Amino acid sequence: MSSPPDIRIFAETDALFRAAAEQFSTLTKDAVKAKDSFSVALSGGSTPKGLYTLLAESYRDSIHWDKIYFFWGDERPVPPDSPESNYRMAYETLLSKVPVPSGNIFRIHSEKDPQQAAITYEQTLSTAFRLPDLFPPRFDLILLGLGSDGHTASLFPHTRALKEDKRFVVANRVEKLDTCRITLTLPVLNNAAHVIFLAAGKDKTDVLASVLDASSPAEQFPAKLVRPRNGSLTWMVDSAAAAKLKVLAPQA
Ligand code: 6PG
Repeated sequence: MSSPPDIRIFAETDALFRAAAEQFSTLTKDAVKAKDSFSVALSGGSTPKGLYTLLAESYRDSIHWDKIYFFWGDERPVPPDSPESNYRMAYETLLSKVPVPSGNIFRIHSEKDPQQAAITYEQTLSTAFRLPDLFPPRFDLILLGLGSDGHTASLFPHTRALKEDKRFVVANRVEKLDTCRITLTLPVLNNAAHVIFLAAGKDKTDVLASVLDASSPAEQFPAKLVRPRNGSLTWMVDSAAAAKLKVLAPQA
C-alpha cells in the first residue's frame, strides 16, 4: 500500500532547489553507507536544471560521485548532442562538472530506432541492477517533473505506455507531439525507494492542483499514477505552482 505523498511548498524556487539538493545529498549518503552505491533516474525538461547546477556548484566535494549510477527517466528521439536531449542537459549542468566515472552514466541511446532503444535500455537496466528477468529495477531515487498537461517522464495523457505493466522501458508514441519517446514505465517508477517530483512556476498551478485532486482522472493526469508501492513520494513545489493547493503555507 503506497503511503500518501509528502508535499513540500517553498516560497521561492531557489529554496526548492536548495532543499532538493540537500535531500539528494542525504539520500546518496544513506545509500552509500548501506550498500556502497546509489542509483538515480534523472528527470529531463528545464525545471531540474536549477537542482543539477546547485549540486555541481555546492556539493561537488561532499557527495561520493563515484558511487552514484546515473540513468534517465525518459529521453527524446534525438542524438546526445541535441539541444532537446535530456542527457545533454544533465551532462552540461551536472555530470561534466563532478567526478563521476563515465562508466557510471547510462544514457538512453534514443537516436536509434525507438523500439530498439527501449529494448537496449531494458537490457542496460537488467545488467546494471543484476536483475533476473521480469524483476523491475528498484532505483534508490527517481526524479520526475510535471508537464503542464499532467505527463511525467514520457508518460503522456491517454498514451499506450500508461497501461504497460510488464516492460520496464517502452517507446511511447505521443501523437500530439508527433514523436515517439523512450520512457521508464510505471512498474519501474512505482518500484523506486524514493520518488521526488519537482514542479515550479505558475504554468504548473492548475495541473498540480488536478494531479493532487483525488477525483481527477488518472489517464488525463498520468503523474497521478506514480505511487511507489514500497517507497516514498515527495512533491517539492514552489508557491507559484502550489497557488491552488489547499495545503499548508510554504516551508521556506
Ligand atoms: C522531458 C521530461 C518531462 C518533464 C516535464 C516538465 O523529457 O521533458 O522528462 O517529463 O519533466 O515535461 O518539464 P519542465 O520541467 O521543463 O516544465
